[in-house]
Amino acid sequence: MNRLLLVLLIPATLMTSVTAAVAAAIPTSLPELLDFYAADSAQPFDAERGKEFWLKKTPADDGKMRDCTVCHGEKLSVSGKHVKTGKVIDPMAPSANKERYTDRKKVEKWFKRNCKWTIGRECTAQEKGDVLKYLSLH
Ligand code: HEC
Repeated sequence: MNRLLLVLLIPATLMTSVTAAVAAAIPTSLPELLDFYAADSAQPFDAERGKEFWLKKTPADDGKMRDCTVCHGEKLSVSGKHVKTGKVIDPMAPSANKERYTDRKKVEKWFKRNCKWTIGRECTAQEKGDVLKYLSLH
């Protein structure tokens, strides 16, 4: 095979396997997730603090206030609605939705995206643990 082609092909193949690894699910349970975040948190997780965080309003550039309920809705046991796309979002309460918090990759992906959009920065491990503790009680 032409050497140039090989030089081009090898990195392409490597990148594909890296992408596949990133997309792969990491099966998890709520206690495992809480342990995962506890490793980087100073204080024990607190559902009350998690609730305050979930409901805390942050002003956005568009002049509107944002909090987690903007998309997830007021009640954790019923579906929410994405504020921009209008798509239905399944309930966040594990009692109403067995698939909640069962894939660490998914949890991390959405924490990252939603924290940035809602509060303008990534959430800390402490904040994620507090919120999960709060959500897990529903
Ligand atoms: C702009 C809309 C939007 C906002 C605001 C939002 N979320 Fe989400 N969230 C989503 C969508 C869409 C999903 C993925 C669909 C699903 O899991 O049903 C999701 C999923 C999640 C998940 C993953 C759940 C799982 O089962 O793995 C977590 C955790 C989460 N959101 C936390 C938050 C937190 C914390 C906030 C507030 C800081 C927040 N979200 C605000 C739209 C939003």
